[in-house]
Amino acid sequence: MSEPNDAHVITEIKDRVLTIRLNRPDKKNALSQAMYTAMTEALKQAAADDEIRVVLFAGTRDAFTAGNDLQDFLKQPTRFNDSAVGRFIDALGHFPKAAVAAINGPAVGIGVTLLLHCDLVYAGENTRLQLPFVNIGICAEFASSLLLPKIMGHARAAELLLLGEPFTAAQAREYGIVNAVLPDAEVDAHAFERARRLAQQPPNALRVTKMLMKRWDSAQVDEAIQLEASHFLPMLRQPEAIEAMTAFMSKRKPDFSAFK
Ligand code: COA
Repeated sequence: MSEPNDAHVITEIKDRVLTIRLNRPDKKNALSQAMYTAMTEALKQAAADDEIRVVLFAGTRDAFTAGNDLQDFLKQPTRFNDSAVGRFIDALGHFPKAAVAAINGPAVGIGVTLLLHCDLVYAGENTRLQLPFVNIGICAEFASSLLLPKIMGHARAAELLLLGEPFTAAQAREYGIVNAVLPDAEVDAHAFERARRLAQQPPNALRVTKMLMKRWDSAQVDEAIQLEASHFLPMLRQPEAIEAMTAFMSKRKPDFSAFK
């Protein structure tokens, strides 16, 4: 077992599967910049090392992730491509090998949008997914404004992105972003078993087939990521986002009634 950069992300290689485990349970695995950097390094290691054929994202007993650390948001550089999250998005968006995710508890924000860039996703039955970007005064990211309507249709994507309410693992499966829903206690083992099975496939055939599936949308995905970031980063510094984040930290409801 190794800990690249930060014990909040633990990596482990077993049976040619690199597990990237988010491990900051006291903050529901909210993602700090150091955690994005650790995940990016793990993905780069996995892409380069012939011994690793699959990555598996997982969380802890109570949570996959509460999304971006809300206190960390304002520390991000204003240039997306130089930021820790920008580098993570690039590394996962272009990851050439298979990626699997095992989710449970809250899966929020980028904890949902990263699933759109994995190949197989397994969810515990009590997973609560949520895309609260609008709720906190920002906009969709990681090409979710493109991929969600494409996967599930505009009406369902609009409900998830514009209302930003939590949705269930069963809904996520029906909408096509989760492969299967399992009892919470079984999701990690099931996802690992599926990852291990992928790791036994002929590796070149698997890589080429993944590349072919992603190929048709890849230019649009890259464009969507950049376009979203060009709105997202300035919005983080606007009054709507500041009100939402201050309210969360002060454990009160945000008040948007005075905004135009
Ligand atoms: N950033 C920073 N801290 C976070 C966080 C985040 N995204 N999400 C949760 N935390 C912290 C809480 O502040 C709390 O810290 P404290 O114990 O020091 O007060 C701790 O994690 C536990 O969170 P809590 O809200 O008490 O857990 P919960 O089970 O009631 O709710 C969530 C879990 C994920 C539904 C809720 O924490 C939440 O909505 N978080 C914000 C999600 C968000 O907006 N993410 C950004 C998306 S772009």
